[in-house]
Amino acid sequence: MTTPIRPLIAGNWKMNGLRADAAGLAAALAAAVPADGGGEMLVCPPFPWLAEVGAALDGSAVALGAQDCHVAPKGAHTGDVSAAMIADAGCAYVIVGHSERRADHGEASTLVEAKAGAVHQAGLVAIVCVGETEAERDAGQALEVVGRQLAASMPAGATAANTVVAYEPVWAIGTGRTPQSADIVEMHGHMRARLAAAFGGQGQAMRLLYGGSVKPDNAAEILALADVNGALVGGASLKADDFVAIFRACS
Ligand code: PGA
Repeated sequence: MTTPIRPLIAGNWKMNGLRADAAGLAAALAAAVPADGGGEMLVCPPFPWLAEVGAALDGSAVALGAQDCHVAPKGAHTGDVSAAMIADAGCAYVIVGHSERRADHGEASTLVEAKAGAVHQAGLVAIVCVGETEAERDAGQALEVVGRQLAASMPAGATAANTVVAYEPVWAIGTGRTPQSADIVEMHGHMRARLAAAFGGQGQAMRLLYGGSVKPDNAAEILALADVNGALVGGASLKADDFVAIFRACS
């Protein structure tokens, strides 16, 4: 018998909310989430609100993370933020390779791999995102594309403790559309096999999140699927009631 994987429900706030919104949302989540909730809740606010949100979450069961980082620990990189700074701000996690970073900033998998390595160097957990576009799915290439992204984005030394993988089909993000359950199961099974081949038992135990239009009304079904060990939630993580309802669906 293998140890059951503890689910992770991660909220990616993206570029939303001003300071008071961030503090209010964090306080509501901190009050609502019990320490023994069955899973782990994580929020990833915009950089300027990390300290404020961290203070609101202090002593609660909700973890703090960031949405991106630079590959270097410090230096002349105007506008960038290092994983060491993120760690010092009280974060435990960093999202890397989100499809919005890949699309808006031209981030390739080789850069994502380097960022994940930098996250590990700082002692934090990397959430490595992968996912196909609609055209790639329609062309029957989804498994191949995600397999390729995974192979190129995962750093050597990835373990179940320092890395989480998030499958986010680009066409499902912010659209209200989700894949068929069978397609999620197929993709997560494919990723599990790839990760097990690359990382052995660590790949078997790594948490695999599904992301893309997860809402309170579809969370229970998605979270019950084979090899789905949690969710990466965008829009619905901005409302405390919705995000708590999704969190409850994992237990
Ligand atoms: P969504 O975003 O839940 O708004 O679809 C998910 C994500 O991009 O992480």
